[in-house]
Amino acid sequence: MTEENDRIIDSKPKPEDQFDSALRPGYLEELIGQEQIKENLKILIEAAKLRSEALDHVLFYGPPGLGKTTLAHILANEMGVSIKVTSGPAIERAGDLAAILTNLHAGDILFIDEIHRLGRVVEEVLYPAMEDFSLDIVIGKGPAARSIRLKLPHFTVVGATTRLALVTSPLRARFGATYRLDYYQIDPLVEIVERGAGLLQVESSSDGLLEIARRARGTPRIALRMLRRVRDYAQVRANGKITGEVAQAALDLLNIDGQGLDDLDRRVLLCVIEKYDGGPVGLNTIAASVSEEPDTIMDVVEPYLLQLGYLERTSQGRQATRNAYDHLGLDFRDASAQQKLF
Ligand SMILES: Nc1ncnc2c1ncn2[C@@H]1O[C@H](COP(=O)(O)OP(=O)(O)OP(=O)(O)O)[C@@H](O)[C@H]1O
Ligand SMILES: [Mg+2]
Repeated sequence: MTEENDRIIDSKPKPEDQFDSALRPGYLEELIGQEQIKENLKILIEAAKLRSEALDHVLFYGPPGLGKTTLAHILANEMGVSIKVTSGPAIERAGDLAAILTNLHAGDILFIDEIHRLGRVVEEVLYPAMEDFSLDIVIGKGPAARSIRLKLPHFTVVGATTRLALVTSPLRARFGATYRLDYYQIDPLVEIVERGAGLLQVESSSDGLLEIARRARGTPRIALRMLRRVRDYAQVRANGKITGEVAQAALDLLNIDGQGLDDLDRRVLLCVIEKYDGGPVGLNTIAASVSEEPDTIMDVVEPYLLQLGYLERTSQGRQATRNAYDHLGLDFRDASAQQKLF
């Protein structure tokens, strides 16, 4: 779906985000927000250093673009160790994982993105590796085959997932620490945009930064992407400075409303309200009605609409709230009140 690829507020990574690496914080001190996670990680790091041990295995989960990958790199920097980056779908066979594991050095971090997509066979190799730092390999074939156990150096797995529910419980149990990343509040987002503007050397006013932060749906990746779009607009249509007016005009032009909703978000809300009378309606039905992948709706659209209180999750499906009607300027028809009348 080309439209989906064009969404500026798609919180999944895009090729243009490679420029982000310049904006990516390298150390805990540079990471803005997520105070509680930072505090916990500081203790984890300090303790591992005191004991001269490898860091405990760490699992990060939460919606895309909030800093899971960033945190994995920060952990490596803070510990002064190398990081090997891979992902669940990239490790196809047990042998692929064995090759990765036998090349690690003591203390190294193995970052497994989208860890919920690891295959079952691969996962079973990972369990003893994480738990006992050992690797069972089978040598030979048929009746002559025998299994030998290799010792691995003490390494650290850092896992990331947008879907904790899809991580099997035996795998989850092997992480010493699990942290949930939450959407960012406005203040840290303003700071993130300000830091980005500084690094990109764009002039900005505080209402300009605030306008971008307000519409960034709590997500640093989106905030930084919007910053670049607004910078373009400022350079082409204004005198290069990001003011409140410039940011507003630029984002309006991109069809992003004051709450950070774009066409797809509004289409989802309208679908629930108009086609299904406010709900409840199942997520797959919604996805089919707006011709989108259920994954996009589930990972990107729904969490933010839930967070804003525009959608509610009930046992029968998703339901639009009064706030959603208000936001779209529609009359709220309270379904339960109507039912009582009949
Ligand atoms: N706390 C932060 N302060 C400053 N910049 C941040 C912060 N968190 C994330 N970023 C920026 O946002 C971008 C997205 O972060 P990151 O790639 O770590 O997200 P992610 O959670 O791994 O997303 P995904 O689930 O899509 O892999 C990065 O380029 C990073 O520069
Ligand atoms: Mg990532």
